[in-house]
Amino acid sequence: MLPYSQVYGHNTTVDISRNQLIKIPVFKTTILQDGYIDYLLNEKSNNRMKNETGTEPKFTTKTSPKAEPALQELFMDSIMDIYWAENHLVKNLPKMIDAATSSKLKTAINDHLAQTKTHVTRLEQVFELLGEDALAKKCDAMEGLAKEGEGIVESTESGTATRDVGIILASQKIEHYEIATYGGLTQLAKTLGHDDVAELLYQTLTEEKAADQLLTDVAENDINFKASEEA
Ligand SMILES: [Fe+2]
Ligand SMILES: [Fe+2]
Repeated sequence: MLPYSQVYGHNTTVDISRNQLIKIPVFKTTILQDGYIDYLLNEKSNNRMKNETGTEPKFTTKTSPKAEPALQELFMDSIMDIYWAENHLVKNLPKMIDAATSSKLKTAINDHLAQTKTHVTRLEQVFELLGEDALAKKCDAMEGLAKEGEGIVESTESGTATRDVGIILASQKIEHYEIATYGGLTQLAKTLGHDDVAELLYQTLTEEKAADQLLTDVAENDINFKASEEA
């Protein structure tokens, strides 16, 4: 395994013997777990590596010691944050179901509660794939968004379409937060070379987007008009 390398765009400078540097073009760089990166070299680079090192090129080498562990740490922190958020929603969504009046809205939130439990399980699979314990780190954003939903319920009358509109508004803010989180984390997982994790996060992202769209449909086709008649 080569001891050290620095990546400059599509070129990488490889230290082949601690004091002999060569610069070679790279087609694709993939960052792997444990601080290693995989290079996909073109034929010319392959031949040059063979000539200058006298051996077949090895495509796995250590990445810069500073950059990748920090990014991996940020990624893990964000996974712990969304794990807290999903668990919080499992506790919070039943309150929204109880507070809602429209049967379509109750069903939509209830179905998403079941999905949210799956999101928790999926994140536990993510921790497992990354070889980490499943730990939750308090998500201030989700705590605030959930509180806002509860505030809307407290400030509206029971049994009204107006309260349902408020619940949809609060729920869609939550979905958008989750969409932003899972969208960003899916990309980051790919950047870090965790393709299996990226696939799991992408599945959840798809479900969050569908939940958001369903809430829009319920509002537009059913509840907003009723609420406007209450005014
Ligand atoms: Fe979720
Ligand atoms: Fe969600």
